[in-house]
Amino acid sequence: MEPSSHLRNLAQANAERAPVAVEVIDGIADCLPAENEMFDVAVMSLVLCSIPDQRKALGQIYRVLRPGGCMHFYEHVRAETPALRRVQRLVDATVWPLLAGGCHAGRDTLAAITKAGFEMQRVDRLRFPDSVVSICQVHRTFSAWRLVQTNNSTSLR
Ligand SMILES: C[S@@+](CC[C@H](N)C(=O)[O-])C[C@H]1O[C@@H](n2cnc3c(N)ncnc32)[C@H](O)[C@@H]1O
Repeated sequence: MEPSSHLRNLAQANAERAPVAVEVIDGIADCLPAENEMFDVAVMSLVLCSIPDQRKALGQIYRVLRPGGCMHFYEHVRAETPALRRVQRLVDATVWPLLAGGCHAGRDTLAAITKAGFEMQRVDRLRFPDSVVSICQVHRTFSAWRLVQTNNSTSLR
């Protein structure tokens, strides 16, 4: 799913070369056109940094994934050091979202995912590019399981 027509066209061109069938559709993650629990796996790539309402979008991913289903991420995240976090807050409050299509460098995406009901399985953190000027390019890749909610507990199924 890609709401920008330019990026959607690029995605479509790549989809046609992919070794598996890929359907590229218009829309926003805040309102997924899919039934509850119909997918085994969800993938989000550099989108939770830009999405206006992370909580709503993660709620939708949770809704369409089957209990115990997995989601994979590649995202900008809040930096680990206080100094870099300060820089991220500064650029997020000024030029960065304007220059980068609504992107935010320092959102606490990991916390938002956990809060949405997922359990983190694997997290890799890297700086990109790997240099002293990598102010905003802190990424994380990880996978998380959708938890099963019961009246008294939360568990994997
Ligand atoms: C940094 S770009 C990443 C592009 C691409 N996903 C990639 O990995 O290269 C951020 C993307 O978030 C998309 N986006 C912004 N708001 C969105 C929303 N509400 N639902 C889904 N995608 C959204 C933008 O259209 C844009 O493609």
